[in-house]
Amino acid sequence: MTGTGKRHFIKTFGCQMNVYDSERMAEALDAAGYAAADSPETADLVVLNTCHIREKAAEKIYSELGRLKQIKSAREKDGRRTMIAVAGCVAQAEGREILTRAPVVDLVVGPQSYHRLGDLVGEAAVNGRVIDVDFPEDDKFNHLPDRPVKRRSASAFLTVQEGCDKFCTFCVVPYTRGVEYSRPVREVVQEAERLALAGVCELTVLGQNVNAYHGEGEDGTTWSLARLLRRLADIPSVRRLRYTTSHPRDMSDDLIALHGEEEKVMPYLHLPFQAGSDRILGAMNRKHTRAEYTETVARIRRARPDIALSTDIIVGFPGETDADFRQTMDLVKEVEFAQAYSFKYSARPGTPAETMTDQVPEDVKSERLHALQALLAAQQAAFNASCVGRRFEVLFERRGRRPGQLVGRTPYLQAVHADAPDALIGQLIEVEISGAGPNSLEADILSVADTPDLASAGV
Ligand code: SAH
Ligand code: SF4
Ligand code: F3S
Repeated sequence: MTGTGKRHFIKTFGCQMNVYDSERMAEALDAAGYAAADSPETADLVVLNTCHIREKAAEKIYSELGRLKQIKSAREKDGRRTMIAVAGCVAQAEGREILTRAPVVDLVVGPQSYHRLGDLVGEAAVNGRVIDVDFPEDDKFNHLPDRPVKRRSASAFLTVQEGCDKFCTFCVVPYTRGVEYSRPVREVVQEAERLALAGVCELTVLGQNVNAYHGEGEDGTTWSLARLLRRLADIPSVRRLRYTTSHPRDMSDDLIALHGEEEKVMPYLHLPFQAGSDRILGAMNRKHTRAEYTETVARIRRARPDIALSTDIIVGFPGETDADFRQTMDLVKEVEFAQAYSFKYSARPGTPAETMTDQVPEDVKSERLHALQALLAAQQAAFNASCVGRRFEVLFERRGRRPGQLVGRTPYLQAVHADAPDALIGQLIEVEISGAGPNSLEADILSVADTPDLASAGV
């Protein structure tokens, strides 16, 4: 496609699915003749791909729009027009309200309509402000250009499932992303093969509720996530598979068994539990008890004893007492996590929990979060320390901060720094862990004789 001379700049907030969506939006804009800009100052179109999950995330967008307003008027003085688009989950949740609150915005586009971004920009340029937050019948993936086969990072995201039918009472996702939808296997495999051709050797398969995947299989029957992953493992140059985020209720037997059978599936699982008390889990509508969660963890560990677990936890959900919170702490102590994300409960508009009485005071939430994060940090540090002296395959992804240093990931998703030549970027290399910090590891590259991959990289 010939260029229009125009440039786009996309800034991404929120979860991995937004990272994936931004990549697809960039590709769609490339196909529409836009090149990527290095900064908003040099962009004719700025897209904010937004997150609505907590109040802070949503509010960030308005301060960002304040900064963009200045850039837009500075460019205007030079005779250059700047279109500003708000995409993603805030766009979906707030819709027209954004246009009222932020006059700088030209375009509001929901997560199910971003394949129309190019057209919408054109429309807004001619007719003025535009909004599209529909949930169309036909899926957007059918309208996006094929993924370009150009060299990219060795690790890539691939959305296979979107939306959520679980309706946890605190969560906006079922409203911003709509009902659960699984992409057909054929479409997923075709995209994976194009990514593989572009040099990707690690795929992280994404869905808000990825293990509820139930897509149309290559044989016309409905396939589970386990069956889809087995199919992706057949692609020879795909060496590592990961998936996120899973719901404990949907950890099916075939998926758990896969962890023991398919060595391309990495021994790492993100499995949010949110709260340790059954009373709070019930009020959250999580559809699982504490005992069901620990039983699921036990089954996964039987299938894959060395699996590293990570989780999401909310503190201060309405009605949470000190005793409830202690059960969250106890569950963390019982399971032991290699990594975790923890948050203060944030009341979200339109969710059932927003109007629950007995909201927990902010200072109590802060105190609980502080205690929980200290425990989680200690567990993460202990897990990292237990890796010192062990040998792992590391996928090197990019240069580190120090010259001559590369950064990669272990099978357990820990960041690893090692002194290594650039030629190893994009390669799976055997290393020995020489040091551990709270958030990352240090490693030595093993000798060429120990590492066939190293020899073939010509090092
Ligand atoms: N689909 C995923 C994650 C959704 S959002 C899942 O089901 O686990 C990511 C995390 O944000 C959630 O796991 C939860 O811990 C947190 N979260 C969601 N809504 C929240 C809210 N209202 N307040 C605080 N944290 C929230
Ligand atoms: Fe939100 Fe619950 Fe669905 Fe996760 S499972 S996206 S927390 S409603
Ligand atoms: Fe945020 Fe939407 Fe993801 S609300 S967490 S960007 S699905």
